[in-house]
Amino acid sequence: MVSALLPHRVAVIGASGYGGLQTVRLIQSHSQLRVTFLGGHGSVGSHWRELAPFLETGPDLRVARPDPDAIAAAADLVVLSLPNGRASTLAPALLERGLRVVDLSADYRFAQLEDWRQVYGSHGAVERADAGLCAEAVYGLPEFNRPAITTARLVACPGCFPTASLLALLPLLKEGLVLPEGIVIDAKTGTSGGGREARQHLLLAEAGEAVVPYGVEGHRHTREMEIQAATLARSRPLRLQFTPHLLPMVRGLLATVYGQLSASDCSAAQLASHFRDTYRDHPCVDVLPVGVYPSTKWVRQTNRALLSVAANPHTGQVIVMAALDNLLKGQAGQAVQCLNIMLGLPDPMGLPLDPFYP
Ligand SMILES: NC(=O)c1ccc[n+]([C@@H]2O[C@H](COP(=O)([O-])OP(=O)(O)OC[C@H]3O[C@@H](n4cnc5c(N)ncnc54)[C@H](OP(=O)(O)O)[C@@H]3O)[C@@H](O)[C@H]2O)c1
Repeated sequence: MVSALLPHRVAVIGASGYGGLQTVRLIQSHSQLRVTFLGGHGSVGSHWRELAPFLETGPDLRVARPDPDAIAAAADLVVLSLPNGRASTLAPALLERGLRVVDLSADYRFAQLEDWRQVYGSHGAVERADAGLCAEAVYGLPEFNRPAITTARLVACPGCFPTASLLALLPLLKEGLVLPEGIVIDAKTGTSGGGREARQHLLLAEAGEAVVPYGVEGHRHTREMEIQAATLARSRPLRLQFTPHLLPMVRGLLATVYGQLSASDCSAAQLASHFRDTYRDHPCVDVLPVGVYPSTKWVRQTNRALLSVAANPHTGQVIVMAALDNLLKGQAGQAVQCLNIMLGLPDPMGLPLDPFYP
């Protein structure tokens, strides 16, 4: 049910980063949400106009330290867009004060704190004692977890690679159309996936005119995908090979999932029809006709994921391609989609679905 107290007040913590900037921008054009607090660290004291002088409109606010009492006085909902390990230093205090929280980091993507420690334990050496919140947090993949998101206090948005990969994989796994063994995810992303902080490998001189694989053995998103795929599809445990590549583009992500069909005579047309049925009521995901393959440009600056399904009778494999904008459907757009669901609003409210093309 839609609350009578509109628009809803939202705090964005990490406003100066890529995720924060996108979140504020989306909320600015959202009729039911309003940004009422900006939080950060190095940018504390900066006015929004200084952070985003290229935008016509924006909140008349300065970035403040993310003091939980000050946030609770200003807002009802919080989007945390912080480096891994930082959200868990804030979320418990925000929840205690009755706020609902959407986190873009990996801090609450694992129901078992121990799993997070194994994958992210070296990040910022944060000591955590919030195992209960890890168990409570709801994985914010709306297309497969809507009922839980509706009532959640704490939503953990998936990573950008897991969003694309799970949208491609889950319709197959849920129906037992693919064997859980030997699945390979080959993915490409642009440099904004690494955030706004300066890093040598993201310099134009390093990343320009180059395609570079990284994290080939045990990228941190692998475990998140293995756990969430098995949980959301109620399948037996999975082991995935995930190979990401950095491409010389700013935004955009393409994940191609390869798996062995359990019935090798399943055609691409049958598979595509199954995918269309799966996403029929989900306005942020579309399935292309068989033989049409998605481009990251077709989803740039949108909250839409575009999928395409192929089958190779020669190898008995299914191949699913998923393209999305890592900063929108892979991050800030997904956060706003989750806020919409938490507030009983339509999924795509305030979210662009058509790209500015080319
Ligand atoms: N980029 C993507 O494609 C993508 C996709 C999905 C998920 N994610 C996840 O989303 C989160 C944000 O990513 P991003 O790319 O937006 O990062 P980013 O551009 O590096 O921004 C990080 C933000 O965190 C703030 N910050 C850092 N330390 C802080 C602290 N101690 N207290 C308060 N604020 C602090 C920074 O504020 P100051 O400038 O004020 O220091 C900055 O605004 C990360 O966890 C990332 O893994 C990213």
